[in-house]
Amino acid sequence: MRIGVLTGGGDCPGLNAVIRAVVRKGVTNYGHEFVGFRDGWKGPLEGLSRPLGIGEVRGILPRGGTILGSSRTNPFKIENGVERIKENLAAQGVDALIAIGGEDTLGVATKLYELGVHVVGVPKTIDNDLGATDYTFGFDTAVNIAMEAIDRLHTTAESHHRTLVVEVMGRHAGWIALHAGLAGGANVILLPERQFDVEQVAGYVEKRFQHQYAPIVVVAEGAQPLDGQMVLHNQELDAFGHVRLGGIGQWLAEQLEAKTGKEARTVVLGHIQRGGTPTAFDRVLATRLGLQAIDAVHEGDWGKMVAMQSTDIVRVPLAEATRELKTVPLERYAEAEVFFGN
Ligand code: F6P
Repeated sequence: MRIGVLTGGGDCPGLNAVIRAVVRKGVTNYGHEFVGFRDGWKGPLEGLSRPLGIGEVRGILPRGGTILGSSRTNPFKIENGVERIKENLAAQGVDALIAIGGEDTLGVATKLYELGVHVVGVPKTIDNDLGATDYTFGFDTAVNIAMEAIDRLHTTAESHHRTLVVEVMGRHAGWIALHAGLAGGANVILLPERQFDVEQVAGYVEKRFQHQYAPIVVVAEGAQPLDGQMVLHNQELDAFGHVRLGGIGQWLAEQLEAKTGKEARTVVLGHIQRGGTPTAFDRVLATRLGLQAIDAVHEGDWGKMVAMQSTDIVRVPLAEATRELKTVPLERYAEAEVFFGN
C-alpha cells in the first residue's frame, strides 16, 4: 500500500514520534510505502507532499513540532474540498491516510471516512480533551513545562511578596491547569469547568499571605468568573469556528491586586507549553499509538482511531472520539480544592 500521513491543528510534542513509528513498522514489517502530506488537510487538498521513508524519520523521536508541518485548514469550508482531496490522493497513488490530530482534524477524518476515504486517526493534543482515550500525547509534556514554570515562580513570588497568576492553555478543558497546578502546589486553580467567584479567590490569596507565603494562582485560558464572560484574545474565528482565548490571567491579576492591596503579576505560558522535546511518557505513548495505527491500516480497519484505555492501546470508531469534549469531572476538581488558600 501507499499510505499518506498528515498532522493537523495545533502542534504538540510527540507528533514526530508517531510519524517515526508508523513509517518504521510500515516499511520494515509490512513493506508499505509512505508519502508525507504537508500542513494538515492543506496537503491533500493542494497536493503538497514530501517523501517519507525510513531515512526521513531517523533522529526525529526527541524533536518537538512536526516534520510535516501543520495548519487548521478545514476542507469542508473550501469549495469542492472533498473532491479535490480524493483527486489528489488518486493522482499520488495513495490508498489510505493516517491523520494525526485533535478534535478538528479527526472531525474531518470522520466525515471523509463516511464519504469513502480509507482513513485511520491518531489522537493528539496538549489539551487532553478528546473522548475515547484516557490520555493524548503532548499533554504530559505541557504539564511538565507548566509545572517547572510554577516551581520557578514560587521562589520569585516569595522574594517579592507578590501574587503570581499563571495562565495556561487547554481551550475549554481544564486538564493542563488541574495537573500543573496540583503538581506545582498552586494556591488556587481555576478551570473552565466551574465558574469562579473572584471574592473567594481573593480570600484564598489573602490567607496565603497571612501564612507568610506568596500565592500562585493557576488559571486556565478558558476559565470564567461568575456572571462574567470568557476573556477572548479577539473575536475572530478559525476555520473550525473556534475563538482565540487568552487574557483572563491579566484580568484576574488586576482584580486581585485591587481586592487584596498586594501586587499581582501575570505570566502567560502560551506556546512554550507546545514546544520542545516530548517527555518519556509522551514519546512512549506516541510510539505505541503509531504502531497500532499502522497495524489498523495494514488490516484495512478504516474509520478507527487508536486510543489509550487504561494501559492498553485499542481501536475505537473515529466518531466516538469527537462526539463530546472530555472535560475535568468536578470530583477531580474537588481533590485540588483541599489545597486552596492554605
Ligand atoms: O489545542 C491546543 C491549543 O494550544 C489550545 O490549548 C489553545 O487554545 C490553542 O491551541 C491555541 O492555538 P493557536 O496556536 O492556533 O493560537
